[in-house]
Amino acid sequence: MHSSEQIVYLNGEFKEISQACVSVLDRGFLFGDGVYEVIPAYGGHLLRLESHLQRLQNSLDGIRLANPLSNPAWESMLNQLLAKNSGEDQSIYLQITRGVAVSRDHNFPHQVQSTVFAMCNRLTSMPRLEAEQGIEAVTLDDIRWRACNIKTTALLANTLLRQQATDKGAGEAILIRDGHATEGSASNVFVVLSGVIVTAPTGPLLLPGITRDLVLELADTHNIPCQQRDITEVELRSASEIWITSSTREILPVVKLDGEPVGTGRAGPLWQQMIDLYQQYKQQLRNGCA
Ligand code: PDD
Repeated sequence: MHSSEQIVYLNGEFKEISQACVSVLDRGFLFGDGVYEVIPAYGGHLLRLESHLQRLQNSLDGIRLANPLSNPAWESMLNQLLAKNSGEDQSIYLQITRGVAVSRDHNFPHQVQSTVFAMCNRLTSMPRLEAEQGIEAVTLDDIRWRACNIKTTALLANTLLRQQATDKGAGEAILIRDGHATEGSASNVFVVLSGVIVTAPTGPLLLPGITRDLVLELADTHNIPCQQRDITEVELRSASEIWITSSTREILPVVKLDGEPVGTGRAGPLWQQMIDLYQQYKQQLRNGCA
């Protein structure tokens, strides 16, 4: 059934978005005390659901919150949500917060039900020619905490950093901590150094992106040399290609960094190869065989 209004999921019920309300005492509202996931779906097929649910479990463990649903229950709810909304390609946003306490208190409330919310939006991939134009990026000091592997809804540092990039006319901020590039404000970062694709190793300083994993896997399957190791700021500035990856932006080439051209200043050959492989993967998923 398709409604004219967006249908969302809130605490066990599907409802029109204008009818979905959460208390002002929700800890997600008061403290940013929650975790989230963004899962793309192509032709009604969720991309790497198992990996997203595993990362969700890791985030929940990281904030000491019980998973409110079993994996089969998540799968069933998310598929129902996709079916209730229109769009060939969609992206699901889901979040779980520590629920509504009786008063504002930093301590965890006892025996409170978490708040579970999910919505889906149309996902429009950037056309190839537009993606090929690439984006500009700026480097900024990574001012975030040391638990960036938790996908928390507390994103104030990320939003401040992204806005700073936007104010400078750039499409993403590449974050630098202790002389190393960690990730983007809402993406992972890859560089090409002497023909090798390099991305920073997972750990507390960055989010283990599902797109990042897929890119590493595609590189491995197609014998494209790749490494997971620290990237120095000097290496970042001398890379022949820089890409950012995320579920919603896929793989985008960075053609200018802090106003200087990256490599030739155009999307590079390894990006061209990788985006083809990524699009092939999406097509297989649409056909139900990925
Ligand atoms: N963010 N790093 C950060 C800080 C991110 O916010 C994201 C994605 C990624 C890439 O992860 P993935 O490939 O699993 O999307 C890396 C989502 C898209 C968001 O906040 O909207």
